[in-house]
Amino acid sequence: MIASEIKNYFESNYNSRPLVVKAPGRINLIGEHTDYNLGYVLPASIEKGIYFAVSGNAKAEINIETFLTSPEKITFNLKGKHTAYNAGWGNYFKAIIEILVENNYPLKGMDCVFGGDIPIGSGLSSSAALCCGFLYALSKVCEQHITREDIALIAQKAEHKIGLNCGLMDQYAVLFGKSKNALFLDCRDLSHKYIPVNLKGYSWVLINSKITHNLAVDSEYNKRRISCENIVAKIAEKRSEITSLRDVTMNDLKSIESDVNPTDYKRAHYIIAENQRVLKMIEVLNSGDAIQVGNILLEGHWAMSKEFEITTKELDYLVESGQDLEGIMGSRMMGGGFGGCTINLIKTETVEENLKKILYSYKNQTGINAEVYRLNIDDGVHIVEDVSRKEDFNKKAVK
Ligand code: GLA
Repeated sequence: MIASEIKNYFESNYNSRPLVVKAPGRINLIGEHTDYNLGYVLPASIEKGIYFAVSGNAKAEINIETFLTSPEKITFNLKGKHTAYNAGWGNYFKAIIEILVENNYPLKGMDCVFGGDIPIGSGLSSSAALCCGFLYALSKVCEQHITREDIALIAQKAEHKIGLNCGLMDQYAVLFGKSKNALFLDCRDLSHKYIPVNLKGYSWVLINSKITHNLAVDSEYNKRRISCENIVAKIAEKRSEITSLRDVTMNDLKSIESDVNPTDYKRAHYIIAENQRVLKMIEVLNSGDAIQVGNILLEGHWAMSKEFEITTKELDYLVESGQDLEGIMGSRMMGGGFGGCTINLIKTETVEENLKKILYSYKNQTGINAEVYRLNIDDGVHIVEDVSRKEDFNKKAVK
């Protein structure tokens, strides 16, 4: 469902004119799993998103209705006491309301209808969009003026409550993204700047492998984090000033190789190199060197496949089949791992032909019809002033 449909539905069912908020999904150019290691990331917010229509009501309850998954409605009380829901999305709102109540944010009754076009479990951060967009809308209705920085922290806490010990990349991308730019975020001090990603003559394209994941249930994500923490703890035995992999060099790592588990070693090796890839990526984007950009994407992918071990055979296949095609500069899996999309840099004049080839051979190999989305970088969470204009934009942008 798109913005105007959600707004119309709200007006017909809740008898008031709602505020409409868009929370975008995100892509990531490079810097995977580096966020919780206090390293660098380079994500961007996209045109695919979740739209929330919201308005205050005079009751002591928050009614939320979704069209993102199958239509469903849940009523939350303002005391933050709820049992777990079957609906995955319900548990995110439950967690958010609990955190707000624990931190004494005064809540007001409100009605909220949401839906959108982010594919769920595809590495495009539908859950960060859900949490950040809802918090932003709620902060407007309750006149709380919660800052974007605080929204990011509350949304992260909600993910942790649900079971994913994530970093802050997704929330920052969703909240601070800017049209046509990637967000270079330093996850240690959360400072960020914008990097234009327009490479003349080249297009960014996402290919959804259609292998979906639920990182919060799949503890492999958290296991990767523990591996990184094990290495930091080993180094900190002798150097207590070391508190994250951000401060660990390849030489530091080598010096403890024989004292640590080889799997943890591999994981940390990947993270240290991935941080360097982010810095290198910014350099080559600035100089407009598409060949180098493609090489960094590929290097990142194969390191995630062999060292961090978070890809799937389908994602590896998508990347590998693109590697042999003229005009595909490079690709990599994106996000937490174990499914989702690849991001691809392709010479614009070869896009149609190359995508046809990849989709065909992917179908032959896996039996799956992959989906393609052209990348359009849009602004971070914002109020949609003119719902019909946004809708036109969406129709053009989404293929
Ligand atoms: C998920 C997490 C993020 C980040 C990425 C991997 O999206 O939510 O914090 O760790 O995986 O880069």
